[in-house]
Amino acid sequence: MPKSTSQSAKNDLKNTLDDRILHPWQYLEYRGEDDRTFIDKSEGIYLYDKTGKKLIDGPGGMWNVNVGHGVKEIADAVYDQITKMPYASPFTESTEIARDYASRLVQYAPGDLKRIFFTSGGSSAVDSALRFVMFYNNILGRKEKKQIISRNDAYHGSTFLGASCSGKERDKNNFDFASNIVHHISSPNPFRKPDDLTDEEFCDLKVQELENKIIEIGADKVAAFIAEPILASGGVIVPPKGYHKKTHEICKKHDVLYISDEIVTGFGRLGHIFASENYFDFTPDIILLAKGITSGYVPCGAVVISERLMSKLDNKEKVIFFKRLHRLRSSC
Ligand SMILES: Cc1ncc(COP(=O)(O)O)c(C=O)c1O
Repeated sequence: MPKSTSQSAKNDLKNTLDDRILHPWQYLEYRGEDDRTFIDKSEGIYLYDKTGKKLIDGPGGMWNVNVGHGVKEIADAVYDQITKMPYASPFTESTEIARDYASRLVQYAPGDLKRIFFTSGGSSAVDSALRFVMFYNNILGRKEKKQIISRNDAYHGSTFLGASCSGKERDKNNFDFASNIVHHISSPNPFRKPDDLTDEEFCDLKVQELENKIIEIGADKVAAFIAEPILASGGVIVPPKGYHKKTHEICKKHDVLYISDEIVTGFGRLGHIFASENYFDFTPDIILLAKGITSGYVPCGAVVISERLMSKLDNKEKVIFFKRLHRLRSSC
């Protein structure tokens, strides 16, 4: 039986509704009903729906798709690689492609950040780095040095520890966090600068706040400070000039590791592959990458670790990354 026009219009609308997918930050009361644009294809900076309507890809372009959509060389390289070898376990094997990529990445990395741990995305890079600093302090016999300092307005991903480091109020709604481990200081947002302070005084106030927090918790208990060079999804907040260099000096003074989350700012976003040194003139202990690393074409992230940290783990029993050798043996 032919459907009435209103019935078929209703069905057409139904075909555009997501009633099986849960989207991040979706209002649950509208699930299956919010009328999103369904994207059919993309090219350059544009997305197209089924009717051919052309939209600028604001969200993708802003965070992820640094080289634009539809770059054939990437598609061909991904196809060739998957056809040749889709997977080799990094636990037991290595591959030339991963080795060569890591070698090329570290050519651009600042200072002695020469050791790469690949992950499946940004949140897993954040979590791996935070777990690494705890692991590092355990091996150095500093079992109390586990606390993490982050900032309001920060976003560090969606794993439990990464989300705990995030400082955006909206993200905290009804979730639980590792509040016994993670502490927040205020955002270095120049728009909130009191009128009677110069930019430099405002910067020093924010830097002092970090030092005060380290002293309050106890430097022997603080493992790391995690910060985005520019607070990205928290409002694209550019900190006052000198903020990163000075907070880095405070971290060095108190033997606190500086983790620079360049998941958004890396890969050309600020005109360089790595922004911390080239743009902000300091060399962190650990840099986190994702998003632009593949321009969002395939999931990938990386933790780039200083050789100085790695060398401190040498000769401390037979330690393997994230596990101790005897534990691996006993589990085999
Ligand atoms: C600064 C920053 N860190 C970490 C993440 C988490 O990355 P992913 O979404 O790839 O897990 C994001 C994501 O937006 C981010 O902006």
